[in-house]
Amino acid sequence: MMQYFNCFTILCMIWLTALNLFVNADNQIGTITKQPNTPIPVNINVPSGNCFEFLLYGFGVQIYQCVTNGSSTQWSLVGPDAYLINDIKSGKFTPQYEVAHHYYQKTPVNDGKITWQSIISEDTSLVITKLIAQSPSPDGSENIAWLKTQTTSNQGKGAFENITYVLRINSKGGVAPPLAQCGTYQNGTLYSSNYTTEYWYFSKNC
Ligand SMILES: *[C@@H]1O[C@H](CO)[C@@H](O)[C@H](O)[C@H]1NC(C)=O
Ligand SMILES: *[C@@H]1O[C@H](CO)[C@@H](O)[C@H](O)[C@H]1NC(C)=O
Ligand SMILES: *[C@@H]1O[C@H](CO)[C@@H](O)[C@H](O)[C@H]1NC(C)=O
Ligand SMILES: *[C@@H]1O[C@H](CO)[C@@H](O)[C@H](O)[C@H]1NC(C)=O
Repeated sequence: MMQYFNCFTILCMIWLTALNLFVNADNQIGTITKQPNTPIPVNINVPSGNCFEFLLYGFGVQIYQCVTNGSSTQWSLVGPDAYLINDIKSGKFTPQYEVAHHYYQKTPVNDGKITWQSIISEDTSLVITKLIAQSPSPDGSENIAWLKTQTTSNQGKGAFENITYVLRINSKGGVAPPLAQCGTYQNGTLYSSNYTTEYWYFSKNC
């Protein structure tokens, strides 16, 4: 009985280890710590005194709602739902590589709602920001704008704990459907627009 128990325990440990590897290929957030040489439009540059910490690759949707209000009809941004990985070269946009979730807070925190939150057990941090400036994508109007957002709240311990600014760079896709389509949908219709992007994180740890 004792031998059976030991054997079972070992098998169980092996299984749990394998499961853990499946759940998280990465046990840290932010493995790319060198700022790419992508030129940044001046209006979304971060102020001096803030330094590049790391970047993450994002994949998900921008969710829009067709809203009719009086005589005006428009797509209004509800928020993103995206997952982030450390490195597109060594990982894929599949759950085993995902290290963080990007979404909006329902209730703003100090005027910010744009959130990036760790989803790995080694890191409990999240950062909430607000939009400061944007610049149209240089790759065409089928791509959502590049953004500068500024932190309004840091919570938990980990990669996002000291982040002061987050940029959205090299966005692909994610735009709302043509305005004309909004009229053909019922008021309140939600539309999820796929996108990929890079998020660049800055801190004052220079
Ligand atoms: C359209 O939907 C929005 C959001 O649900 C609501 O606030 C608005 O009153 C609706 N407009 C009409 C004309 O029903
Ligand atoms: C509808 O339009 C009115 C007047 O322009 C504005 O005050 C109100 O906030 C709008 N409501 C929505 C849900 O956008
Ligand atoms: C955040 O800043 C504090 C104080 O400078 C430092 O001790 C800590 O290591 C930093 N955390 C990260 C993840 O860089
Ligand atoms: C959006 O992405 C999902 C998941 O990868 C995919 O199944 C779907 O076909 C994409 N939609 C469009 C319009 O490209």
